Amino acid sequence: MEGLTIRHEVDESQLDDLIGLYQISWWGKHRTRDDLRRMLAGSYLVVAINDAAGRLVGFCRLLSDGVFRGTVYDVIVHESLHGRGVGRLVMDTLMNHPKVREIESLALDCLPDKVALYEKWGFKVQGSNFLHMSRRPANIQPPGAAGA
Ligand SMILES: CC(C)(COP(=O)(O)OP(=O)(O)OC[C@H]1O[C@@H](n2cnc3c(N)ncnc32)[C@H](O)[C@@H]1OP(=O)(O)O)[C@@H](O)C(=O)NCCC(=O)NCCS
Repeated sequence: MEGLTIRHEVDESQLDDLIGLYQISWWGKHRTRDDLRRMLAGSYLVVAINDAAGRLVGFCRLLSDGVFRGTVYDVIVHESLHGRGVGRLVMDTLMNHPKVREIESLALDCLPDKVALYEKWGFKVQGSNFLHMSRRPANIQPPGAAGA
């Protein structure tokens, strides 16, 4: 898509755009400007795609020690642009970044309908007896989760 700019920060003036992006997620609808400021400051790497008007239209971030482990979070594209390659741009930018390329193991959580998407960047569902465990608030559960 033309007119898009790749950045590695989200400006103060774009925090409302980011809140808007989270509205199409099941996990981030409640996030506030204050939370997001701290979240951005605490993230190892942020990918921010801006449109020609400077509006944030694509996002993801990585938490990492920079050497052994990294976890991808919050891959989101503005709904009006789905299916036009912005998600690919977000993930390509993250995965090809020099700060990310050298990290030993990367991980992410996703629903089954996103597996084929992330397989494009080498992520695999790990079919072993090694289970993912998490602790999260009762009101932030993936669609279809028991008790959700
Ligand atoms: C998932 C999401 C980021 C994809 O963004 P997008 O801009 O529509 O994706 P793109 O158009 O760049 O597609 C990228 C590639 O993935 C494929 N793809 C997109 N969504 C897919 C899906 N759900 N399953 C499998 N493949 C998918 C596309 O066909 C494309 O393949 P190609 O580049 O090899 O042709 C977007 O749908 C979104 O924001 N969803 C809501 C938030 C969300 O659920 N994020 C994922 C959290 S795990």
